[in-house]
Amino acid sequence: MSGATRNDDLGYPIVVGENLRDDVGAFLRDRGPVGAVLCDAHPHVRATAKKIAALAGGSPVIALALGESRKRLATVERVLDAMVRAGVERGSLVVGVGGGIASDLFGFACATYMRGVPYAHVATSLVAMVDAAIGGKTGVNLDSGKNLAGSFRDPVGVFADVAALRTLPPAALAEGLAEVVKAAIIEGGDFFEMLEELAPHPFARWPLTTVIEAAIKVKTMAVADDRLEAGSRALLNLGHTFAHAIERASKYRTRHGAAVAVGLRAAGLLALRIGRFSEAEHLRVLALLALLRLPLQTAVAPEAIFAAMSGDKKKRSGRLRFVLPRSIGDVEYGVESPNRTVRAVIARLREPPESFRARR
Ligand SMILES: NC(=O)c1ccc[n+]([C@@H]2O[C@H](COP(=O)([O-])OP(=O)(O)OC[C@H]3O[C@@H](n4cnc5c(N)ncnc54)[C@H](O)[C@@H]3O)[C@@H](O)[C@H]2O)c1
Ligand SMILES: [Zn+2]
Repeated sequence: MSGATRNDDLGYPIVVGENLRDDVGAFLRDRGPVGAVLCDAHPHVRATAKKIAALAGGSPVIALALGESRKRLATVERVLDAMVRAGVERGSLVVGVGGGIASDLFGFACATYMRGVPYAHVATSLVAMVDAAIGGKTGVNLDSGKNLAGSFRDPVGVFADVAALRTLPPAALAEGLAEVVKAAIIEGGDFFEMLEELAPHPFARWPLTTVIEAAIKVKTMAVADDRLEAGSRALLNLGHTFAHAIERASKYRTRHGAAVAVGLRAAGLLALRIGRFSEAEHLRVLALLALLRLPLQTAVAPEAIFAAMSGDKKKRSGRLRFVLPRSIGDVEYGVESPNRTVRAVIARLREPPESFRARR
């Protein structure tokens, strides 16, 4: 085997490592036959899919051009029709290869194909590795909003081959890094300190397996006792109430990762204002985000952000609730805050960040 690490917290293997050929091969021999390999048509992703299809003894490869605008029911229908044409039978394993769009869309298609076929995902983007492919949320966008149609459906296995990240475009990498920082704030301790040490160095030189494994652990721990998102899973929304509002108010011109980075600053600011977080730790978070070249401010109008937030689904009984840090490594959900404090925080997001000393 490849010296890969394996996490079984959610009842299915999540394998992380460099060059997972042997691990994937052993899994397919155990779980096969493979009915089809579905993939994002990006040349690098397709090449990986072809290798997996060969490992599976020559399964058909179904490649589709994906993208947020194609993450929709019409594409699911195309995938399902292609699976029928490829002769995928009920009970045969289907393997998907790609980023978070692929895991959401293919996972959803496989949840419905002949009322459900087992699905394994080979994650090729950082977002898919640390977030999208794990936890069983699958789905697509509707014209009326993002991720509004879908299903909770666990994969039977997830593989994160960190070698794939070498070809990932920098923008897609940044998307994932914001989620990694979020995970490190939730976890604190060695994980956060490791990122502080690594941040000044090029990503390609990071011990990627260790970093990704740590971020996955935060997600699996939060999801494990809360599959349907009633409680602890909410921790993973740190920074996200602000982020979703910024994305919506910008008409999705601000990407999710960028919005999460600004949202993490906002959560820190709000926690500071209601007296439950220290300035020193807030500045440590900002310094880390800045070293990773993630944005800390937004040009989106504060009123528009607040209006978008008031329509957020996390709102209960008219009051806004937030996931906020008490300290790095101690994050709580369901914290209520007065609207005027929230507005004051949002107003700050147009301005450069609070001064901080970047640690080197
Ligand atoms: N279900 C969940 O819990 C969950 C969580 C987070 C995000 N998501 C979803 O994930 C999606 C975003 O995922 P993403 O950021 O991975 O986007 P993505 O799937 O579009 O991948 C990013 C880009 O990188 C390309 N790519 C992927 N792997 C590559 C590789 N190894 N080399 C070169 N190029 C590669 C893709 O073709 C794409 O252009 C969103 O739709 C979001 O809603 C879902
Ligand atoms: Zn996110």
